[in-house]
Amino acid sequence: EEAAPEAGTWDALPSIPLFSDLPREAFIQLFERCPLRRFGPGERILAQGTHGDAFYVICEGSVRVFREEDGRRQDLATLEVGAFFGEMALLSGAPRAASVESLSDDTQVLEISAAVLATLSRSHPPVANALKKFCRERLLTNVMN
Ligand code: CMP
Repeated sequence: EEAAPEAGTWDALPSIPLFSDLPREAFIQLFERCPLRRFGPGERILAQGTHGDAFYVICEGSVRVFREEDGRRQDLATLEVGAFFGEMALLSGAPRAASVESLSDDTQVLEISAAVLATLSRSHPPVANALKKFCRERLLTNVMN
């Protein structure tokens, strides 16, 4: 008789629209390969103007995206579980367009490196297309704000 699969191990994975078309196997591999980073309330996850070589998918909690200009702070968005951020610097090579901080007591984000993204994009092109679409929309929003 075969042993039952370990209860709860993969069932706890959040639903992430960006990866909704990934086969379960590829989805699980992604979680095995990428580090899960945890942040407390108010903790800085990304700093505007810095170099970026990863993007992040929110698995737990929420974050605030904001810009700082002339010492003034402008909030751009609040992102929740399933959303992602940090794709703009990856796709453009430009510095981080905004800062991102944790709003929750225990924000958990999956860190996906440029190298992992490159591999993923080759095997699953819709992932890359979705990233580009959001990047374009966010660029436009920021230019118009
Ligand atoms: P990046 O520029 O790498 O780092 C900051 C991130 O904030 C950026 O990628 C986007 O993922 C995110 N971001 C920037 N502007 C917006 C916006 N208007 N709405 C939501 N997210 C944004």
